[in-house]
Amino acid sequence: MSELDDPVGASLHGAHAGLARRTGRVATYPADVATFCAVPADPGPDDWADLAALVGPGGLADLFTAPGTPPADWDPVFAMPGRQLVAPAPTGDVDPRVVELGRDDDAAMLDLATRTRPGPFFTRTARLGTFLGVRDGDALVAMAGQRLHPGGWVEISAVCTDERARGRGLAAVLVAAQVARTAADGGRAFLHVVDTNAGARALYARLGFTERRPVVFRGFRVPG
Ligand SMILES: CC(C)(COP(=O)(O)OP(=O)(O)OC[C@H]1O[C@@H](n2cnc3c(N)ncnc32)[C@H](O)[C@@H]1OP(=O)(O)O)[C@@H](O)C(=O)NCCC(=O)NCCS
Repeated sequence: MSELDDPVGASLHGAHAGLARRTGRVATYPADVATFCAVPADPGPDDWADLAALVGPGGLADLFTAPGTPPADWDPVFAMPGRQLVAPAPTGDVDPRVVELGRDDDAAMLDLATRTRPGPFFTRTARLGTFLGVRDGDALVAMAGQRLHPGGWVEISAVCTDERARGRGLAAVLVAAQVARTAADGGRAFLHVVDTNAGARALYARLGFTERRPVVFRGFRVPG
C-alpha cells in the first residue's frame, strides 16, 4: 500500500509520532493540532473502543483517510467528496515576497484561516510543518502550509488568501514555493481539495497538479 492511501496513518506512525496520542493500534493528534485519526487496515470493535476513549465522548473523529467505517452509534457529521492531487516537479524561482512564518505569526495565521476557511485549522495546526506566507505591510494576506508527512511526501494545506488580496497570484506563488521547498528537501508534495471548491481546483490544475485518487472527507461524532 502506498503511504498516500492512508497519509494520516503514515504520518501519525511516522514523521508525527512525537505529536501523536496513541492507544493500542489507533492514534490521533492533540485536539488543538488536528482531528485526524488513524485506525489499522482491519479495524475491529476493540480498535473503535480505543479510538472512542482517545477522542473522548462527543469528540470529532476525522477519518478521511482511515479504512473501515465506525460503529453505527458514531454519528456522521460530514461527508464531502474530494480529490487527492500530486504535485508536478518544481519550476522557476521562489517569489521573493514569500516568507517563512513562525510562532510570532500564530495569531495572524489563525485569524486568516478563520476568515477564509481553507479547511480545519486550530491553534497549533501550524506545528505540523513549515508555513509560508506573503505580507502586505505588517498584515499576513496569504499563506500555504505543510500538514501530513507520510513517508517522503508532504501535504500542502491551509492554502488561503485574504479576500482583498485574491486574484493577484499569491496562492499560486505560495503553493509553488511549497512544491519547491519539498523537492529541495528530497520529498514530493501532494494535497487534498473538496470537489465543490472549483476555484482551488482550477488553481491546482493550472499549477500542474494531477489527480491520484478520489477521497471522502468524513467526520464522525464519538458517542456519549
Ligand atoms: C483558493 C484561493 C486560495 C486562491 O487564492 P488567490 O491568491 O486568489 O489565488 P491566485 O491569485 O493565485 O489565483 C486565483 C485566480 O487569480 C488569477 N490570477 C493569478 N495571478 C493573477 C494576477 N497576477 N493578476 C490577476 N489575476 C491573477 C488566476 O488566473 C486565478 O483565476 P482562476 O483560477 O479563476 O482562473 C482563495 O480563493 C481562498 O483563500 N479561498 C478560500 C480558502 C480555500 O478554499 N482554500 C483552498 C483550500 S484547498
